[in-house]
Amino acid sequence: MTNKKDSGKKKTGANENTPGQGQLPIAAGNKTAQNKLPGAVTRDASGVMRIFPTVCYMQSHQGTEKMNAELERFILEQEKTSQNISKASIRGGYHSDRKFFDEKNWAVQELKKLITAEALKYLKALWANESTAPLASIPNFKMQLGGWSVILREGDVSVPHLHPRANISGVYYVTSYKPDPKAFKGAGCLVMADPRIRVSMYPVHDQVSTLIVTPNAGTVVMFPSFLEHYVLPFKGPGTRISIAFNLAYSANAINQGN
Ligand SMILES: [Fe+2]
Repeated sequence: MTNKKDSGKKKTGANENTPGQGQLPIAAGNKTAQNKLPGAVTRDASGVMRIFPTVCYMQSHQGTEKMNAELERFILEQEKTSQNISKASIRGGYHSDRKFFDEKNWAVQELKKLITAEALKYLKALWANESTAPLASIPNFKMQLGGWSVILREGDVSVPHLHPRANISGVYYVTSYKPDPKAFKGAGCLVMADPRIRVSMYPVHDQVSTLIVTPNAGTVVMFPSFLEHYVLPFKGPGTRISIAFNLAYSANAINQGN
């Protein structure tokens, strides 16, 4: 049933499914149990609202063994011949410069295509979560991709950080992590932290405040660049190899008024 009071507020040009800023969703009869609010804010039929959700992405790719083997060979060679960037988040290990995707190596270029295709899928969901404007309304929208390789070994770590001057950040795993049975849970894993930092002021029992992702070769993970993340100390005799990357939207997609 349509709420007459709410109907009276529909003077902003917003349609039934996208009320203007500050409006509550309009119950649209039985057409849908979930009415859309600005961005991805939702209220279901029982009245439960989800405000400011964080949209992330994870996808595993089969058939990447050959590409991963070449990436592993290339990056281990790169470690010997190229500069280790010391100002990044990792402590120990190796961090290449941020021009990884400029390398002419076939596997690097194949990975670049894979990440670009995945990023376009993620972008649709992320953009819809962050903006009330259709992505198609941004003229000549583009994204700039930058990436770097990372090698971690026994005891190496990536401290908590985020990625300034970017919109989408992510990682692709070249190698899988085989946990050392004697290591603590989550060793060598990526941890993504709840961005609602104030939730920790009065946590409930078993509060879920982190998501732990175990590195698996062929898996790509993406998240908004503001999301704090880190890698717990790597334990064991193996080598953890990944490609981290940033995507920055073209300037016309950024609100320059602030
Ligand atoms: Fe990072």
